[in-house]
Amino acid sequence: MYFKSLKLLQIFLSILSLASCFLPCGCIVYPELAEKGLKSPPSERCRECHRDIYNEWRDSPHAHSFTNVAFKEETNEYQFTFCIGCHAPETIFTDKKIEPRSKNLAEGVNCNSCHLNDCKLSGPTPAYGPHPIAEKNAFFRTSELCGKCHLGTFKAWQVLHVSGGKKTCQDCHMPAIKRKLIQNDPWQKIHSKREGRQHLFSCRTSFDENENSLKLSFIKVTQSKGKIKGVLELENTDIPHSIPTGDYGYREVVVTIELQDETGRVEDSKRESLFVEMKTALKYKENRNIPFCFDWSKDSYALKANMIRTSFNKDSNILLAETIYKP
Ligand code: HEC
Ligand code: HEC
Ligand code: HEC
Ligand code: HEC
Ligand code: HEC
Repeated sequence: MYFKSLKLLQIFLSILSLASCFLPCGCIVYPELAEKGLKSPPSERCRECHRDIYNEWRDSPHAHSFTNVAFKEETNEYQFTFCIGCHAPETIFTDKKIEPRSKNLAEGVNCNSCHLNDCKLSGPTPAYGPHPIAEKNAFFRTSELCGKCHLGTFKAWQVLHVSGGKKTCQDCHMPAIKRKLIQNDPWQKIHSKREGRQHLFSCRTSFDENENSLKLSFIKVTQSKGKIKGVLELENTDIPHSIPTGDYGYREVVVTIELQDETGRVEDSKRESLFVEMKTALKYKENRNIPFCFDWSKDSYALKANMIRTSFNKDSNILLAETIYKP
């Protein structure tokens, strides 16, 4: 009963907000959320209602794309203004070059960068809210949206043929979730849960979600005359872009093979780096073999291998895959 009346109230409110579009003052209580130029709102404002999405975005690389040390250094302390468009844009909805915002640059790629479309906020579904909202826009479900800035990765994705359909960037980097769109009281009480997307934009999540998209395995391992040798095989089984990918910044993926004793002490090791620039990045469905040969001592216990995405200052390394082999 309680539930039913809530539903009724919800329908009533939707009608009210629809009707209000025709009233002189309307119920668009927050027109300033869709402003541009010097009136561009900080994304803090979106947090008042879209709290979960805000928190995810705040911890994502997009929120740090202007303040990160590498960008600051490579633009000579922000003097190369032509770099700023993609790193702190006003909006991606333009046919021309993406222009930088005039305010709140430190927020990097912020909410309105992706959602402000012609003086309204637009998204993937029809929605009625207290701020100007455009009709649903199918562009939000496409990789083209990400391709506005991720030029090289998008081009590589675009030309791929994948049997059984190709996943979009959002499928992996914005994992699906069912939840309310807003979290502020009391209004969230009249909203029901719906399908949405986490705004994580991270490599780590996509890795957790698709554990098998990168494969590491020891093959042809043999032992003789105090030596252990074999091959480590890498495969990009499912990621429709190379590992690593991208056009800018420092991107290196390191593959390490180690011979360890039972306590985990490293007796010997071998490393190989994958770089976009050196054309050693691992493409979709590509296999790569790394041969190895180590001295097997009386303490030797196991072979371990892992694949790590390193960062510019090596402080935020991400484990992409690992495997172990015990003879
Ligand atoms: C307005 C330009 C822009 C758009 C649109 C955009 N990105 Fe980004 N993205 C960036 C920038 C700039 C960075 C670099 C941030 C940093 O590390 O400083 C980045 C970083 C990333 C990273 C992390 C890369 C790394 O090296 O760790 C991922 C993953 C990502 N974006 C995914 C996406 C996805 C998925 C979409 C589409 C839903 C998207 N991006 C749309 C500009 C954009
Ligand atoms: C006072 C609360 C409030 C604030 C502040 C707010 N929103 Fe909303 N927003 C809503 C509500 C309510 C809806 C509609 C929810 C529904 O229909 O389920 C909505 C819908 C949206 C949609 C449409 C989603 C879709 O499915 O297409 C987008 C995009 C959006 N908001 C972005 C923003 C951005 C960006 C900001 C900050 C500049 C912001 N909102 C600030 C309450 C708010
Ligand atoms: C099948 C899932 C999947 C799809 C689809 C996908 N990615 Fe990724 N992406 C990953 C995984 C897993 C990683 C982590 C591996 C890595 O860092 O190279 C990654 C890493 C990245 C990175 C960080 C690159 C780096 O050097 O580490 C960027 C940027 C990125 N993806 C952008 C995109 C864009 C843009 C699209 C759409 C054109 C896309 N991805 C589609 C799974 C996916
Ligand atoms: C890099 C671009 C990008 C940024 C930055 C971004 N969004 Fe989104 N947002 C999207 C895309 C793409 C979708 C649609 C995903 C889908 O449905 O496949 C979306 C969906 C949404 C939706 C609809 C509901 C849902 O969960 O899918 C809301 C509301 C929303 N975003 C609000 C925000 C707010 C608030 C911020 C800032 C805290 C923000 N977005 C930052 C790209 C972005
Ligand atoms: C077309 C949009 C675009 C333009 C223009 C652009 N960038 Fe970027 N930048 C990106 C994207 C997207 C990423 C995320 C990594 C990738 O995909 O290459 C990024 C990442 C970076 C990174 C890596 C940040 C990190 O955390 O490792 C640096 C540094 C960087 N850009 C510097 C620059 C400089 C310097 C310029 C001007 C010469 C510039 N960018 C212009 C889109 C752009």
